[in-house]
Amino acid sequence: MYRTHTCGELRIGDTGKTVTLAGWVQKSRKLGGMTFIDLRDRYGITQLVVEADAPADLVETATSLGREYVIQATGEVVERQSKNPKMATGEVEIRLSGINILNKSVTPPFTIEDESDGGEDIRAKYRYLDLRRNPLKEALTLRHRIAHETRNYLDSKGFMEIETPYLIKSTPEGARDFVVPSRMNPGQFYALPQSPQTFKQLLMVAGYDRYFQIVRCFRDEDLRADRQPEFTQIDCEMSFVEQEDVLGMFEGMMRTLFKNVLDVEIPSPLPRMSWFDAMDRYGSDKPDVRFGMEIHEITAMVQGKGFSVFDSAPYVGAICAQGCANYTRKQLDALTEWVKRPQVGAKGLVYIKMGEDGIKSSVDKFYTPEDLGAIAQNLGAKTGDLILILCGDKRKTQNQLGVLRLEMGGRLGLRNPKVFAPLWIVDFPLLEWDDETQRFYAMHHPFTAPKPEHMDLFYSNKKEDLEQVCANAYDFVLNGNELGGGSIRIHDAEVQKRMFEVLGIGAEEAQYKFGFIINAFQFGAPPHGGLAFGFDRVCALFGGSDSIRDYIAFPKNNQGRDVMIDSPSEIDQVQLDELQIDIKKN
Ligand code: AMO
Repeated sequence: MYRTHTCGELRIGDTGKTVTLAGWVQKSRKLGGMTFIDLRDRYGITQLVVEADAPADLVETATSLGREYVIQATGEVVERQSKNPKMATGEVEIRLSGINILNKSVTPPFTIEDESDGGEDIRAKYRYLDLRRNPLKEALTLRHRIAHETRNYLDSKGFMEIETPYLIKSTPEGARDFVVPSRMNPGQFYALPQSPQTFKQLLMVAGYDRYFQIVRCFRDEDLRADRQPEFTQIDCEMSFVEQEDVLGMFEGMMRTLFKNVLDVEIPSPLPRMSWFDAMDRYGSDKPDVRFGMEIHEITAMVQGKGFSVFDSAPYVGAICAQGCANYTRKQLDALTEWVKRPQVGAKGLVYIKMGEDGIKSSVDKFYTPEDLGAIAQNLGAKTGDLILILCGDKRKTQNQLGVLRLEMGGRLGLRNPKVFAPLWIVDFPLLEWDDETQRFYAMHHPFTAPKPEHMDLFYSNKKEDLEQVCANAYDFVLNGNELGGGSIRIHDAEVQKRMFEVLGIGAEEAQYKFGFIINAFQFGAPPHGGLAFGFDRVCALFGGSDSIRDYIAFPKNNQGRDVMIDSPSEIDQVQLDELQIDIKKN
C-alpha cells in the first residue's frame, strides 16, 4: 500500500496515528537542524518534519529532496507548534520515521504555486506541471462536478446519452470544417463534426425522444478567449416539444447546476428578451444585464441642428456612464481613440458631460443647453454623469455602443463575475442577409423552423419579407456570453426544401449535402427541437472567468497550436503517399 491517507486529509483528531502519505515535494527547508517538507497531492498539502535527532540516513534523505520529487513518507501525526489556519491540515504535521524516494524530478521550469512565476508560454509547454497547480486543479474539479450534475439531471428527466460519430460529412454550422483524409477512399475526406446536429435529428426520427451527449465539437474558426478549435457541448434534443417545453427543461437544468454546484438561486422563470430588443437596448444578441446603461436612440433629437455628422447619419445612439463626468480631456481623447480601434470600429465619439458647473459637450457649437438637457433627460442622466454618443448605420452603431457599454461597465466595476444574470434571448430572425455574397444565410442553421405565424412571409420572394421572418430559436445568455443556443427544427420535408431554396442551395446540392436527412424526414420525423450548451463556457463562467482555456485540461493556444505536443505538425512522406496527398509548395 503506497499510502494510508491523502495529503489533504489529516486533522488534529488524527494525532497519535502512524500514517503513510505519498505525493510531490512542494518545498523543503531546514530550520535549526530540523527539515520541514511540504508534501502535495491532489487533495492538499501536509507538512512533514524530520527532527534534528532523527537517524542520520533519514536526515540525509530529507536533505537531499528536490522540488517535485515523488516520495512516500511514514510517521506519526503530531500537533503543530505554530499552526497554519490557511491550510486544512494546518494544525498537524507528520514527524517522520521514514522516507522512500519513489522518483526524482528535474528542477521544474516554473514554481508550482497558486501564483506561479512561469509565463503563459512556458506553462502551456509544460501543461502537466501547470495542472499540478491549485487554480487549474480547482477548474478541472469544477468541470467534473458540472458534468456529473448535468448527467444526473438529464438522466432523471429520461434523457439517454448516445454517442454520435466523429468522422462524418460536413455539418452546416457556419464555421470551417476540420477535415480528415481517408486512406481507404483516396481523394475523399471526412469532416469532424462542428456539432452532432444532423445526427441528433436522425435520432429523433429513430424515436429516441430525449437525447443528450457531452460531446466534442470541432470548428476551424478564429480563436478568442471563449473559443477553442475543439470544444465540448452539452448537446440535447427532444421530440414532441414546443419552444416552451425546451426552455422549461433547460432552465431547469441550469437552475439545478447553479444550485447544486454554486449554491446560487437564479430567477424562476428566467427573464426573456427578444433578439430585436437585445440589439436595440444592449447592442448585442448576448446582453450583459448585470447592469443597466442601456442604449437610447436619439436620432430625431439631434438632427436638424446643423451638425452634419449627425444629420447625415441613419442612426444616432447614446449611453450614460454614471459618475463619469469627471473624465478629463485626456481620458476622453483616449476613449475616442479606443472606440476608433478596428475592434470597435466607430468613426468618432461625441460626449456630454453633466458637470456640477453645467452641461458641456464636444458639440456645444450646434446644440443649446436645452437641446443637451433634453438628451440628458431622455437618458435619465444626472449631474456627475457622462453621455457618450455614436452614430452611423443602425445595427453597426448599436453594436459599437454595446462594446463601449461593456467597457464602461467594466471600468465602473459593474461586471462582477460572482453576480449571475442569466436570460433567454428569443425570436431570432430566421435569416441573415449578406451584402457581399448577395444571399441569405441561416442565422442559426438551416434546420431551424420559421415561426408558424411567419409562414406566409417565409414563402414570399421579397427580400424585405424574408428579413422579417422570425425563428423559434433561442439562446441562453449569461453575463454577456452566449452559453447555449438551439431551436425548434423543421420536420416537414416541404418546409426544409423551401429553406434550402431561400438559402440558395439547389436541389442537387441539398441532396448531395443533406440527402440523408431529407430522406430520413420522409419516414415520419416527429416534431422536435433542442439546444446545445457550450460546456467549456458554462465551466468558465461558473468559475468566474471569461477564458475557457483554464477549464480544458489540454487546450490549444491562440494560433490553434498545442505547444506541449507541438501540433499540428508535418507528417512524413510515407503517410502522405498512402493518403495520395501532395503538399503544394509555394
Ligand atoms: P451553436 O453553434 O450555437 O449551436 O453552439 C452551441 C454552443 O456551443 C458553444 N460554442 C463554443 N464554445 C467554445 N468554442 C467554440 N469554438 C464554440 N462554438 C460554439 C457556445 C454555443 O452557444 N447544433 C447547434 C445547437 C442546436 O441547435 O441544438 C449548435 O451547435 O456556447
